[in-house]
Amino acid sequence: MAAKHALNIVKMKKMKQEQIPLTMITAYDYPSARLAEEAGVDLILVGDSLGNVVLGYDTTIPVTIEDMVYHSRSVARGAANTFIVTDLPFMTYHGSVDETMRHVRRVMQEGRAHAVKLEGGAEIAPTVQAVVQAGVPVLGHIGLTPQSVNQIGGYRIQGKDEADARRLMADAKALEQAGAFAVVLELVTEEVAQAISKELAIPTIGIGAGRGCDGQVLVFHDVLKYAPEYREKKFVKTYADIGDQIRKGISEYVQDVKTRAFPGEQHVFTADETVLNGLYGKGKVDAES
Ligand code: KIV
Repeated sequence: MAAKHALNIVKMKKMKQEQIPLTMITAYDYPSARLAEEAGVDLILVGDSLGNVVLGYDTTIPVTIEDMVYHSRSVARGAANTFIVTDLPFMTYHGSVDETMRHVRRVMQEGRAHAVKLEGGAEIAPTVQAVVQAGVPVLGHIGLTPQSVNQIGGYRIQGKDEADARRLMADAKALEQAGAFAVVLELVTEEVAQAISKELAIPTIGIGAGRGCDGQVLVFHDVLKYAPEYREKKFVKTYADIGDQIRKGISEYVQDVKTRAFPGEQHVFTADETVLNGLYGKGKVDAES
């Protein structure tokens, strides 16, 4: 059965005009996607942040196209009625157009995404244009671009001085011009993000970019405190502490097994007495237990 997406890129632009905020959260597997869809998010991002929060890397750089396809496909199974954007990982869109298109094809066909996200500004506008012309919606991503963390020199706030603010505005316009359907603004000062949001006809989706964006995106594990090292970010609001709940649950299970409180009578399957007698002899099972 065909998925009935509530949302598409035309509706997203209309939502901006009507000042209806877009809600986006990352998801990386079937259960997280399913819960996100049931909770009513507009878009799911299969972010390469999965490198940090799922695969345990320090950065997103080691994440491969195989990782993205695998996780995207799981998310698509969990959220069949939600618009899914999947990241193209590090260095998969900086070679030839053919090479980029091969990666886009994999994410769309094997990963079953509805759009791809690419990090970068004016310098990748020709690539964005080529992908859009191939019929694939592109979400831009400027500001702090984690795939370039080694070049940027850390996870720094962007748009703090005039030159940086001008560069970000030029990058945003270049992406819009190239056909991006929306742009993620990551760790950008509120004033600059607001100015960009006003200037563009396409929606901006902020993460650490303040209140003037047309939508917001957060990482699943940050929202739910699933990875302790992600707790302390100023721009994150956490809404639950599932990490703590999981730890408590597992520790109770461990205790129950150690103390033989689990399995209890209600968890066991018993055989028919006549079968037992045939197998082991009358009274033998009772005598031995
Ligand atoms: O990979 C990711 O989760 C992202 C968000 C931080 C926007 O790119």
